Amino acid sequence: MKGSEIRQKFLEYFEKNGHKIVHSSPLLPANDPTLLFVNAGMNQFKDVFLGNEKRDYERAASSQKCIRAGGKHNDLDEVGKTARHHTFFEMLGNFSFGDYFKEDAIKFAWDFLVNELKLDVNRLWFTVFAGDDEVAADEEAIELWIKAGARPDRILPFGRKDNFWQMAETGPCGPSSEINYYLGDEPENPEKNHPKWVNGEGDTTMEIWNLVFMQYNRVEVSEGKYKLEPLSAPSIDTGMGFERMAAVLQGVSTTYDTDLIRPIIDFIAELAGKKYEYESPEGFAMRVVADHARATAFAVADGILPANEGRNYVLRKIMRRAIYHGREHLGFDGLFFYKVTDFVVEQMREAYPELEAQRDFIDKMVRLEEERFGATMTVGLEKLEQIFGDSKTVDFTQLAKLYDTFGTPKDLIRVSMEERGIEITEEEFDAKFDKALKELQQSSEIGKTNRKAQINPIYAEVLKKTGVAKFHGYDETRIEDAKVVAIFDGEKQIDELTAGAEGSIVLDNTPFYAEAGGQVGDTGTIVSPNATASVFDTYAPVSGLIIHKAKIERGTVKVGVEVTAQIDAEKRDATRRNHTATHLVHAALREVLGTHVKQAGSVVAPNFLRFDFTHYQPLTSEEVKEVEDLVNRYILQNEPVETDIMAIEEAMNSGAMALFGEKYGSDVRVLRVGGGTFSKELCGGTHVRATGDIGSFKITSDESIASGVRRIRAITGFDAFERFRDDEILIEKSLSFLKTQRDQLPSAIEKMQEELKRVRREVEELRVKIATGAIGASSANGDEAREIRGVKVLAKEVADLDANAVRQLSDNLLNKIKSGVVVIGRKGDGKVSLIVRVSDDLTDKIKAGNIIKEIAPIVGGRGGGKPDMAEGGGSAPEKLSEAIEASYGAVEKMLS
Ligand code: ALA
Repeated sequence: MKGSEIRQKFLEYFEKNGHKIVHSSPLLPANDPTLLFVNAGMNQFKDVFLGNEKRDYERAASSQKCIRAGGKHNDLDEVGKTARHHTFFEMLGNFSFGDYFKEDAIKFAWDFLVNELKLDVNRLWFTVFAGDDEVAADEEAIELWIKAGARPDRILPFGRKDNFWQMAETGPCGPSSEINYYLGDEPENPEKNHPKWVNGEGDTTMEIWNLVFMQYNRVEVSEGKYKLEPLSAPSIDTGMGFERMAAVLQGVSTTYDTDLIRPIIDFIAELAGKKYEYESPEGFAMRVVADHARATAFAVADGILPANEGRNYVLRKIMRRAIYHGREHLGFDGLFFYKVTDFVVEQMREAYPELEAQRDFIDKMVRLEEERFGATMTVGLEKLEQIFGDSKTVDFTQLAKLYDTFGTPKDLIRVSMEERGIEITEEEFDAKFDKALKELQQSSEIGKTNRKAQINPIYAEVLKKTGVAKFHGYDETRIEDAKVVAIFDGEKQIDELTAGAEGSIVLDNTPFYAEAGGQVGDTGTIVSPNATASVFDTYAPVSGLIIHKAKIERGTVKVGVEVTAQIDAEKRDATRRNHTATHLVHAALREVLGTHVKQAGSVVAPNFLRFDFTHYQPLTSEEVKEVEDLVNRYILQNEPVETDIMAIEEAMNSGAMALFGEKYGSDVRVLRVGGGTFSKELCGGTHVRATGDIGSFKITSDESIASGVRRIRAITGFDAFERFRDDEILIEKSLSFLKTQRDQLPSAIEKMQEELKRVRREVEELRVKIATGAIGASSANGDEAREIRGVKVLAKEVADLDANAVRQLSDNLLNKIKSGVVVIGRKGDGKVSLIVRVSDDLTDKIKAGNIIKEIAPIVGGRGGGKPDMAEGGGSAPEKLSEAIEASYGAVEKMLS
C-alpha cells in the first residue's frame, strides 16, 4: 500500500465514523509560546480540549505535519541511529472533544488495524498506564482491549515515561495506551516476538499508535511545580506514526525504506555516487540528510527560517547538521543540500501544495544557508583544533555547541582531548559536557518557549459566567447601555474600583477593540453617572473576554452598573487607515517581490504601521518606490473595503490569505479590498470603508530583523502628510542656507563638499610648508640637523599633521639635506607615529628599519620597514621626545 493510500484510508475510515476531516495546521504553532514547533495532531485543538474554544464538530481526524526537535519532545539525537525516529513526520490522528471516550477510542483503533488494514493480531502489543502517586492505574483500558479482541498476555503496564502523554510542560494531558507492532520474521516464536522489546531496545517492535485519554490540564502552580486539573469533558487524542505505519504495511524494516523516504535516500546516494547501506557511516549520513531535508523544506514553506534564536535556531541546527554530514561523510564539497530539499518538494507537492507554492523560496533560503555555513565551516577536527588551540583548558560550552550545532560525535570530542593530553575521566567528561549542553539548550531554545504562558484559569471561569462580550466596534464608537459584569485587580476578581485606582473592567457590550492581529487595543472612557474611568489599553486574555485596563478618575465603578463606553475615535480612525494599508502593502509586496512574501508579524498603531515579512535581501530603492506607487494607486482608486463571515474551509478555498502562527476558529471574517482583487485576507481588525480614506502612504524604513525576515515601517493619512510638510520645511531651510534653487539642491551640496575637500587639502599643504620652512631655516644655521660621524641626522617632533602630510614632510626634508637621516615623530589621540627615512647613498650602512626597531619600543610600540623608509608607532606620547633623542644614538651605533 502506497503511503498516500494509507493517509487516504485513515481519513476515510474516520470520516465514515462521523469525524470531520481537518487540514494539517502549519508547523509554526498558532499563538502558543509553549511550543517550538507543532509536535502532534492535537496542537491545533489545544484550546478545544481545554474548553476555551468551541468548534461546530465534536469528532475530528487529521494528517498533521510535525517536527520534534526540541522542547518536551525531542527526537533530533535519535535521527539516523534508529530505524524509526524523525525530526519531521506526519501524524494521523482521530480526536473526540467531550464526545466519545476510552471505549470507542479503543474500538475504533482495533477495528481500523485489524478489520480495515488486516494487521496480524499476533504481532500487536498494547501498553497501558501502570499508575503512580498522582494518577491511578488504567485497569479499564486492559479490560477494553480484551473486550475488543486483544490477547491478555499482550497487554503490558508501563509508567509515566511511556504511558502518560503531555504536549509540553503545561497543557492538556492524560494516561495513554500505545499499540506496538512486531516487525520481525517469527511472530510465532515467543523468544523473538517477546515483551522485552516493547518499549525496549532495538527496532523490531515499534510503537505505531498512541491513544491518549485526555483528562487533565497540567498547570504550573509555582516555579517548576505543576499540578493536574481535571478537564471539564474527558476527550480523546490519538496519534499514529504515518511513516511507521507505512513501514508496517510495506513490509520493510525501517521507516527509511518506505516509499515516503527511500526515494530521497536513493537520490542522495546517486548525487554522492555512493551505495546506500544501512550499517555504514555513509548510510547513517544519508538518513540524517534525508530526514533533515524533509524538516527543512516543510519548515521553510511554513515561514520558519534559519536564525539564531528559538525555533529558528533549531532549524538552523537541523540544516547545518545535514550539511555537515553531507560534507564530512558523503564527500560533497559544494552546495548539495538545496538539491535534496528540492527533491522533497517534488516528491511531496501533491499532498502538500504549499511546498510547490514556496518552491523558489525554499531553494533560495536553503542555498543561502548552505553558502553561509560553507563559508564558515571548518568541520569536525579542524573546528576542535580551533577550540583547543594550544591551551589545555577546556571550554565545555564551545564543545557542547560543536556537538549541538554540527552533530560532531561526543566520542570524537573526547578522543581529541586525549590526543592533546588533556586528562579527564569519562564520568567527569560526561557530567561537564551534559551540564554545558543543557545550559546551552536552555538558553538558546527551550528557554525561549514560554512555559509560563498559560492563561490564568480565572479568566475562563469568569467568561463562563459573563458570557462572550459583544463587540460593536466595527460600526460604533460609543455604546450607551453597556453594563459592568466583572472587575479585576490584577488577576484577582473584585467588586469595585474607586478614584485613583487602576484595574480591569469587563463589560457585556463594548465598542473597544481588544489587541489582536497586530492591531493595538483601543483607548477611551467608561462613564457612569457617578464615575469616570479612562481606558488606556484593551486586550483579551481569552477569546471573548474583553478587558478594559483603566484608571478611575472620579467616583466608584461597581459591578452591575450601567455605563457609557466611548473610544477615542480619532485615534481609532488613524489605526483603521494603518490597518487597511497593512493589507495593501502585503498585497503590493507579493506583487512586486513575489509570492514567497509572507507576513511574519505586524503592528498596527494609530501613528504608524510595521510589517514583517519573509524576503531574503534588502529592497532596492526601485522596489520601495514600486510598492509605494502600487499602494497609493490602490488608495486613489477608492475601492470599497468589505467583510464576510464564512467557514474557514470556504475562505481558504476562495484564496483568502491566512497568517502562519495565527489561530482561527471554524468561522472566520474575510476582509476584501476592491472586491477581493486587490487583497483578500482573514482578519478580525477594524478597517476604513474605502481605500481613499487612507489618504496617502509612505514607507519610512526597511531593515532586516532575522535572516530572511525584513521589517518595513510606514505611515498613512495625516502622518504621511505631516511628513511631507516637515520635509518641505527642511528643504526650504536648506535652500535658504545654500542660496540656491530647489532643483539645484543636490548639486549645490555636491559642489560645497568638493569645495570643502579642496580647502582641507590646501590647509594640509600649508601646514607642511610651515613645518618644512621652520626646519629648513634652522638647519641652515646648523641647529636642527646634527652631524653624527659625518652624517646629517634630522630628528623632529611635529603636531597637527595627518599621516600623509608627515610622509610628504619627510620627503621634503630629505630633499633638503640631500644625504642623511630624517626621523619624524607625531603625536595625537594618545598615540604616536614615527617615520624614518635614509637617503639612498647611506642605506648599506644605515637601515631605516633598524632605527625604528630601536626607537619605537621607547614609545611602547613596534615598527619596521625597508632600509630607506620605515614606519612605526606606539601608545606613549609622553615618551616621544625621548624616542626622538634616541635616534641620534641609534645612528651612531650603526656607524661605529
Ligand atoms: N498526542 C499524542 C502523541 O503525540 C497522540 O503521541
